[in-house]
Amino acid sequence: MSSGTGGGYWDEKALPSVFKHELLKRYLSPFGGMTGSHARDKLVVYLDGYAGEGRYESGEPGSAEIALRVASHHRSRGLTLSCFFVEQQAKSFARLEEVVAGYQRRGVQAVARRGGVDDVLDDVLHQAVQAPLFLFLDPCGLCLPLDRLAGAFRQRPHRWPPTELLMNFSMMAVRRIGGHVRSSKGNEKTLQRFDAVCGGTWWREYFAAGRPDAAEKVAAEYGRRLGRRAGLSVVSVPVAHKPGDKPVYHLVFGTRSPYGLWVFGDTVARARDEWWKTLELREEDTEMTLFSTTSLKQPDPGEIAARAVPHIAGNLGDLLQRERRPVKLVDYTLEVLGRYYGQVPDPVVRKAVQLLHKQGGTPSDGVGERHVRNIVLRPGPVAA
Ligand SMILES: C[S@@+](CC[C@H](N)C(=O)[O-])C[C@H]1O[C@@H](n2cnc3c(N)ncnc32)[C@H](O)[C@@H]1O
Repeated sequence: MSSGTGGGYWDEKALPSVFKHELLKRYLSPFGGMTGSHARDKLVVYLDGYAGEGRYESGEPGSAEIALRVASHHRSRGLTLSCFFVEQQAKSFARLEEVVAGYQRRGVQAVARRGGVDDVLDDVLHQAVQAPLFLFLDPCGLCLPLDRLAGAFRQRPHRWPPTELLMNFSMMAVRRIGGHVRSSKGNEKTLQRFDAVCGGTWWREYFAAGRPDAAEKVAAEYGRRLGRRAGLSVVSVPVAHKPGDKPVYHLVFGTRSPYGLWVFGDTVARARDEWWKTLELREEDTEMTLFSTTSLKQPDPGEIAARAVPHIAGNLGDLLQRERRPVKLVDYTLEVLGRYYGQVPDPVVRKAVQLLHKQGGTPSDGVGERHVRNIVLRPGPVAA
């Protein structure tokens, strides 16, 4: 199975990459800032294990340049984001090296290594023993075997220094390999490679049963297993070319930090807005339609917020009834947001707090707390 990028990949950023890169940019910056300000020597380590060329022919930044820009910004604030970029393919590596060199000259701490991520991972883990570590693993096909990936996290079993993961789990690869399970011409070697990625043959059963949702079920179960084995909270975001299409991959996020989980959800909601905007712009560029299909399909953020506010207020009320003591929102991220996790940004949650307050469900009104995640809700009725 090919593990490289096909022709044209580096000409211009494809739509799924718009979302992926927005997410990376918007999340890596606060991760570096929040963890780096408490870290020894203010040092944070970052690994982009499948870095590619670093920059598109169009001049847009790839994942490597996105991290280099974040590192450059943090450097001006006295934080060091020490970046490792790994790329296997010679041509891509040559271009990557040039991009990295430009930032090295400006004082950014970064190295580009030619080879397989598996060969570099231990070195990075060693260099990051005392430091917060963020792993971005973005292969075109299959990622590292689960034993290897979970093993890296088990070497760093504590909440501090933190270790987080953003990983591309290719749904195209899952669907393609899934096809081998029921085919008489199925390639056993390919199946075994995916067994290693999944940490067992369990995934084959979904395809053997001929379930139409097999690939999605496999992605969900993979996330649960990764979470258990690596000791992480794992959430997974499907990413498609356009609305209504099957996802090309899931972005799998893993953290041990309640703050990480909260900030990631807010970031997903904001990155999705950017993706919609780009989708609409590209459609304007390519088609002369009376009504853009994007604008017809794009959910109105106002309508989503209008539905989310009472739902989240209800979740908050239930939480207070159960806990019967003050609760800090960040400690209950998934319970607070429920099905709106990754769908709505922080201001919507603040509105939900205000609604619950108005309804008499809490004396806390959420006013004055800069970060919504830090709001502490007290139980009991509003004081008269
Ligand atoms: C999807 S592309 C990377 C895109 C890049 N992360 C971005 O967002 O700009 C995957 C890259 O991984 C490289 N690659 C494939 N297998 C690899 C391995 N085992 N170790 C390191 N790089 C690998 C491929 O050559 C390709 O350039």
